Amino acid sequence: MTTPSLQQDQSPTKDLRPGLFIAFEGGDGAGKSTQAARLAESLESLGFAVLRTREPGGTPIGEKLRSLVLDHGHGTIDARTEALMFAASRAAHANQVIRPALARGSVVITDRYIDSSVAYQGAGRDLGTGDVRRLNEWATEGLEPDLTVLLDVHPGEGRDRRTVGNAAEDRLESEPDEFHARIRDAFLEVARAHPDTYLVLPAADPIDVLAARILRRVQDILGSRA
Ligand code: TYD
Repeated sequence: MTTPSLQQDQSPTKDLRPGLFIAFEGGDGAGKSTQAARLAESLESLGFAVLRTREPGGTPIGEKLRSLVLDHGHGTIDARTEALMFAASRAAHANQVIRPALARGSVVITDRYIDSSVAYQGAGRDLGTGDVRRLNEWATEGLEPDLTVLLDVHPGEGRDRRTVGNAAEDRLESEPDEFHARIRDAFLEVARAHPDTYLVLPAADPIDVLAARILRRVQDILGSRA
């Protein structure tokens, strides 16, 4: 099967990036990874080249930063240091992985991106959502997703889903529900301000229903570009 090309639109008035950049966002336990995997499978079966990736991580240095910032046992990590670690991981990810894949015409699906820092560090850690967004825009040289899928999860429900089978919680996950409630509000606020580039779905909906709605929205975008 020939790979459908996303490279047809070279109009200077439109986005010059040939690929498609999709981010999954949401609180811990929202089911982002499941939906990212489902979308990647569907698009691959339609013949698209897909790169699935995640944050923090996605590059060797990003994966090292991931364990430094998420694992317990590295002593105190103050909020600004934490924000800079996520931003450093993201800079490497955007420049070394995401941009090159988009330039090749791939669909890039990332599990978390800038909005996670805006929500967790900006709102959760109270560093200010504007400052954290600006830091990350600098880190990524302004690389924004074409679509962000926000899986909206109630904090208590997210905790129940991520601790199934007594799975250990990382540094951020183990923060209290009140912290996770601030994060949820911050995600929803960003999404409300940008309805054209966000798809907000209740994380509690059945997996197949969510997967179908996400695929439909992505196909709409692909169709509008053809
Ligand atoms: P995630 O990879 O979604 O966790 P898991 O693989 O365990 O499901 O995210 C790890 C944690 O990092 C999560 O609690 C959210 C947090 N995080 C931030 O605080 N800021 C960020 O910028 C990112 C990307 C993640």
